[in-house]
Amino acid sequence: MERSLPATLDARELEELQSIVRALAGLSLENAARVTITRKAVERAQAIGSRSFDHYLSVLRSSFDEQDRLLEALTTKETYFFRQRYQFDAFEEEVIPELAAASRGSGRLTVWSAGCSTGEEAYSIAYLLAKNPLLVNFKVHVVGTDLCESNVEHARRAIYRASSFRATSPLEMPELFEPEGDGFRVSAPVRRLCSFRRVNLMRPDEVREVGRVDAIFCRNVFIYMDEETRARVTPLFYERLVPGGYLFLGHTESLLNSDSPFEPVHLQKDLVYRRAPAAQLAARRNAS
Ligand SMILES: C[S@@+](CC[C@H](N)C(=O)[O-])C[C@H]1O[C@@H](n2cnc3c(N)ncnc32)[C@H](O)[C@@H]1O
Repeated sequence: MERSLPATLDARELEELQSIVRALAGLSLENAARVTITRKAVERAQAIGSRSFDHYLSVLRSSFDEQDRLLEALTTKETYFFRQRYQFDAFEEEVIPELAAASRGSGRLTVWSAGCSTGEEAYSIAYLLAKNPLLVNFKVHVVGTDLCESNVEHARRAIYRASSFRATSPLEMPELFEPEGDGFRVSAPVRRLCSFRRVNLMRPDEVREVGRVDAIFCRNVFIYMDEETRARVTPLFYERLVPGGYLFLGHTESLLNSDSPFEPVHLQKDLVYRRAPAAQLAARRNAS
């Protein structure tokens, strides 16, 4: 039976919820997020008929299913095709040519969309790679990963409606979208370049399964994490990138004041981060 729980949590309940959510997904419950997260956690407690918030916390500690449901409720899925277009321009105009030249020997180029939500970012990247003449003979792959299974499933279906097209008109991009019901589906040639899986960025073993990549887009994910979590995740990105590989963060996110191994690179249209190329790393090692 559904029972009413108090709409606010006391300091101890909040602290316990915070430590569980932080350990599970690195999500921060600071400031404004705290009010929303409290409300959503109380709703989850009501949904499973918890007698008290302590009862809910004990279910949460032991049930993977409830952990998934709470994380589904707490995460922000907000995304759309070609969000922050200038970042895609920087990728297309300056980064793809450099990566194509560096990867000519292997003929492979892999990009990771980390925290891809429902897949729009990954497909936007794949479209730019697919249409780039420098990559005609390349084996191109975009791997999209997210914490939430429902997002991964949506990304695999690749069917989108109006809210995904805030920065684009699907009718103007027939190579990328084909009409499907009352929405649009990503075209098969672009879908074929992408794969999607569930990866929690807090779990190094899951992150390593992504393999080595030439560039990472992790945009609008760090904003939901505290500094400690960002400091845990950043070296995992560094490890996944090939020397000379690039990291794109969201427009409000930065590594500039952190103790990260990445070097900032000022492109004409964006500030991005790079794992130093192999020759540069060797020179640094020899000098030290
Ligand atoms: C606001 S969306 C960003 C989507 C896309 N990158 C963009 O910028 O449009 C944030 C995504 O990060 C995911 N996320 C949050 N914490 C995560 C974690 N620990 N591991 C993996 N994904 C996470 C959420 O599930 C959500 O889909």
